[in-house]
Amino acid sequence: MWWLLLLGVATSRCLHDETQKSVRLLKPQVSQPVPHFRSSIVPSPGSLDPQPLRIHTYYTRDSVSSKTWARDGDKNRGVSRALAALRETTGRIQGILAVIPVQGPLLLSRDSTQYCRAVWGDPDTPNYHRCSLLNPGYQGESCLGAKMPDAHLHGYSLWPEHGLPQLIQPDGPGVQNTDFLLYVLVTHTPKCHKELCLKSLESSEPSSLSLGTTSAELYRALASSTLRKTPSICISWPAVIAYAACCQLDPEDRPLAGTIVYCAQHLTSPSLSHSDIVMATLHELLHALGFSGQLFKRWRDCPSGLSAREHCSTRKQVTRRDKWGQLLLTTPSVSHSLAKHLGVPGALMGAPLEEEGSLSSHWESRLFQGSIMTAAFDGAQYTHLDPVTLAAFEDSGWYQVNYSAAEELLWGQGSGLEFGLVSTCRNGSSDFFCSSSGLGCHYLHLDKGSCSSDPLLEGCRMYKPLANGGECWKEGNGLLNRAENPHGEIYHLHSRCFLANLTSQVLSKDKVSQPSRAPTGRCYLHQCTHKGTYEVQAEGSPWIPCPPGKAIQIPGYYGLLYCPQGRLCLSYKGTSAATSPLMNFSTQDLLFQLSLGLTGTPGHSLGKEQREELAEVVLQALVTRGGTGRCYFHSPSITAGLVFTVSMWKPPGCEGPSTATLYRTLTLILQEKPLQIHHGEGIFTTEYSLTTEYSKLLTLLDHNPSMIDQLLSAGSCLLLLILVGALGTLAYQKRATLQVGPSTT
Ligand SMILES: *[C@@H]1O[C@H](CO)[C@@H](O)[C@H](O)[C@H]1NC(C)=O
Ligand SMILES: *[C@@H]1O[C@H](CO)[C@@H](O)[C@H](O)[C@H]1NC(C)=O
Ligand SMILES: *[C@@H]1O[C@H](CO)[C@@H](O)[C@H](O)[C@H]1NC(C)=O
Ligand SMILES: *[C@@H]1O[C@H](CO)[C@@H](O)[C@H](O)[C@H]1NC(C)=O
Repeated sequence: MWWLLLLGVATSRCLHDETQKSVRLLKPQVSQPVPHFRSSIVPSPGSLDPQPLRIHTYYTRDSVSSKTWARDGDKNRGVSRALAALRETTGRIQGILAVIPVQGPLLLSRDSTQYCRAVWGDPDTPNYHRCSLLNPGYQGESCLGAKMPDAHLHGYSLWPEHGLPQLIQPDGPGVQNTDFLLYVLVTHTPKCHKELCLKSLESSEPSSLSLGTTSAELYRALASSTLRKTPSICISWPAVIAYAACCQLDPEDRPLAGTIVYCAQHLTSPSLSHSDIVMATLHELLHALGFSGQLFKRWRDCPSGLSAREHCSTRKQVTRRDKWGQLLLTTPSVSHSLAKHLGVPGALMGAPLEEEGSLSSHWESRLFQGSIMTAAFDGAQYTHLDPVTLAAFEDSGWYQVNYSAAEELLWGQGSGLEFGLVSTCRNGSSDFFCSSSGLGCHYLHLDKGSCSSDPLLEGCRMYKPLANGGECWKEGNGLLNRAENPHGEIYHLHSRCFLANLTSQVLSKDKVSQPSRAPTGRCYLHQCTHKGTYEVQAEGSPWIPCPPGKAIQIPGYYGLLYCPQGRLCLSYKGTSAATSPLMNFSTQDLLFQLSLGLTGTPGHSLGKEQREELAEVVLQALVTRGGTGRCYFHSPSITAGLVFTVSMWKPPGCEGPSTATLYRTLTLILQEKPLQIHHGEGIFTTEYSLTTEYSKLLTLLDHNPSMIDQLLSAGSCLLLLILVGALGTLAYQKRATLQVGPSTT
């Protein structure tokens, strides 16, 4: 037995608050017009309409630490991944946020406390508050470690006691066509590592480690001998993808410049997809553009719209605590948007924020699972740019928001005022949360899940995606355990997780039926028929309509499949079928699954390879007996319990009777005279076949041919592209979940 316990995971939170706090926010000093200081920010009349936000990215090569963190090839790969993600993200933001454009080139401010040691103090002289003594050690300006070139910056001067100032550095040319200047670093900093502490309770040999993420580094660290010898160990692990902060504001406090730091080491990890890096970038960029605890208090109230900026004022209240102590973002669009999402009429008091020390720059995880602005990131396919987040940008008073790019937030949709409270999440009133410790489905139904909690959920539990092999949409998962599939699961790009206890009758009629099993998360193929309605398919079954909220039976299987309500096919527009069969199947060319029990005298249990061999021999005997071509039969297999299974369908070019006819012929022949197979030292005899089950299926199909128009052969799954993308993704900071508990041998 081997346990791993997570002690204090230095929790998986976005680093934005920490980094933003370390940055001094600069604003232009508009109170002091100086002749050679070009004003680049005050708009000229007639150009006051909001325009798409122009983000200019400036990649600064990092010379200091680059040698230490990676080989050149890795470094270049990391940089190009980061820049590709940035291009996509800035393009996306441009389509969503509009601002009053900066007129002329954007010129950033210098921090006078950096270049200047002392200022003049007489309010009656022109040099009041001007620099009287330069700082000889002045290194220029930087933003979160990124050096800002003089070309982007205002100049500076030294003022004598009397007379004209001495220009030390003139204004740079600035950056044309830019509303926000983003400095980009790809480097390695101490912030890029996360510490993870583990404890082994019994220090015997670990049989297998279940890791929540597929990070090879983590695995190696765990498997190292140190862990086996010491009862507890903390490992440092490159878990952070990126962090960002805003550095400069315009006179109305709108963010003008910031830096995003990509953690080079993690960026090259194969477990990160391009979309993961895009989502992490989007998250960080949204912080730098205003969704930040440091910036909330600068948000503007612009009742007559962005263009009439003279009517804007700084908002009196952006955050407050409700009577239970929950911190809320209380601005109007956010409150309306959340009310609409929860299906509550009117507006709410505000939208809950995650409590993170003194600041809070994320949505409360209990209410906003799947939102781009929660503190933990589970991977791009679970993350969406939701309308409540966009509403926050409208409420900032700096942006006009195009909501058409908003993605639906499924979590908590229509769940009412009580949703996501610590006091109600465990009483079973919402099926977004769970209370048992069993297996089920993650709420997006892409993955099987186990009911668990994390520090951000504060005791609430939800079905979290299983660490390994639980992705229904990953065909590779199905191939691993193809030989034994009594539940008829199908792993496919269009498969989803359903609560079900389907089981095919592969046991002999005279054996007592198996005890009934409680439903658990299983993968079956689905296709949308209309918005919110869908059909499902188990291996070998036809498409069966799955009315949301109902439990259905699947021909060929015992047990039930539960059809989730309000989760699947919500955005279906009727344009394309969810599944695209590779082959056209007519009624005559359906898929059948033939299963035969074998009795025999192998004398010992058969290994995997021996069973594969035997399956091929049985199939040969079957083909000979049936007098037809081998082309009907696909993926023969034999389970350890000696059940032979083969899929039957007729691909193009296969000559002979229809699959249905052949199937019927074969089952009749086998009933009359069992097959006898000599293989190695053993003799095997077919014992029974699934005639009862499948004749039911046949009758059903005969009476309802329309239902089977789009039958997709489970066998053809093999022909489809096998996706084996390792998706233990880690982003700005990805949750590290280690499966806690005894591992199976
Ligand atoms: C909003 O964005 C959509 C595309 O996402 C675009 O078609 C539409 O024209 C935009 N609306 C405005 C007002 O810019
Ligand atoms: C859960 O708690 C809420 C609020 O206290 C209550 O309205 C609801 O009826 C409870 N549900 C169940 C199933 O107990
Ligand atoms: C499936 O689950 C249902 C409800 O829990 C139960 O009544 C039924 O007996 C189960 N069937 C099988 C085959 O396990
Ligand atoms: C499927 O059938 C349609 C029309 O019946 C035909 O246009 C299409 O080429 C067929 N596809 C394949 C893969 O045979």
